[in-house]
Amino acid sequence: MTKLLLLGGSGQLGKAIQMLADASWSVHAPGSELLNLSQPDEVARFITQHKPNVVVNCAAYTKVDGAESQRDIAFQVNGIAPAVMALATRSIGAQFIHVSTDYVFDGTGDIPYQTFAATNPLNIYGASKLSGEIAVARENPEAVVIRTSWIHSGGGVNFVSTAVRMLKSGQSMRVVDDQIGVPTRAANLAYAILLLVERRDVVGLLHFTDGGVASWYDVAECVLDTMRSNGSVTDSVKVSPIESSEFPGAARRPKVSVLSTHSTRRTIGWTPPHWRIGVVASTQELLGQSLSEP
Ligand SMILES: NC(=O)c1ccc[n+]([C@@H]2O[C@H](COP(=O)([O-])OP(=O)(O)OC[C@H]3O[C@@H](n4cnc5c(N)ncnc54)[C@H](OP(=O)(O)O)[C@@H]3O)[C@@H](O)[C@H]2O)c1
Repeated sequence: MTKLLLLGGSGQLGKAIQMLADASWSVHAPGSELLNLSQPDEVARFITQHKPNVVVNCAAYTKVDGAESQRDIAFQVNGIAPAVMALATRSIGAQFIHVSTDYVFDGTGDIPYQTFAATNPLNIYGASKLSGEIAVARENPEAVVIRTSWIHSGGGVNFVSTAVRMLKSGQSMRVVDDQIGVPTRAANLAYAILLLVERRDVVGLLHFTDGGVASWYDVAECVLDTMRSNGSVTDSVKVSPIESSEFPGAARRPKVSVLSTHSTRRTIGWTPPHWRIGVVASTQELLGQSLSEP
């Protein structure tokens, strides 16, 4: 039986992986209260003691603005801990799949970004995730690192859940339309990751997102349309576009961070749906409706 150790099981992606994991695998997902990435030695000891066949790391310090004032913890969780996991998995011959971000790019390069494109993070979160990518590749050249973008789901903290909450309460939204990326449903990324489990022929950097491209404003409009079509929002509620300069946050963000995903689609033999399908599914889930998964 395949023993899969999942770190970050309480997060959006971790929950989706547990929902979709093959029933014949033994999935162990210790929470942060049991295994905390701020204590990397404990993580290494846990891996070498339990000897999983596969380690999937979805745990991360994900507060992009918060990282600006929490640099040390961001680098500990996103940089040092993945390095330790990479070394430990290598020592026991386990497969290691680690998740990273489009925020390793500065948004000024040719898009879509290829895996080999030059990185230049604009914020501490991106820099900490990049340090993790580099360390994982150094400590375990057979590891897989999957960059993704704009994760959303029917739970957890994400842009779609914020939009549903605000619009449902009757608040109109002003949303930036000059940051372009690809919203990616956690369930689709989870499915892609699970297709890679025990694929020892796949190593190195991959990019995975849903299809199409969007601005945050496009996403908010899609949420609003979905809510309108089932009568869960009043006609007076609106979404209007603004520029990033009108909505300054602590962290700078790339203007355009679309990832090239063709090669990953070929590798896994699966093409994820357009982002709109995913955003509608997450919105419906948040509104308590049924949904279908890949
Ligand atoms: N969210 C996005 O838009 C986005 C975009 C691109 C890439 N990513 C990457 O995708 C991956 C999954 O993201 P997500 O959205 O699923 O994240 P999430 O919902 O914010 O969940 C983060 C997970 O990390 C765990 N965690 C945080 N600090 C920890 C610590 N010190 N020790 C142990 N566990 C800790 C959390 O556990 P607790 O709940 O116990 O704190 C939680 O399970 C991450 O690598 C992230 O960097 C995310």
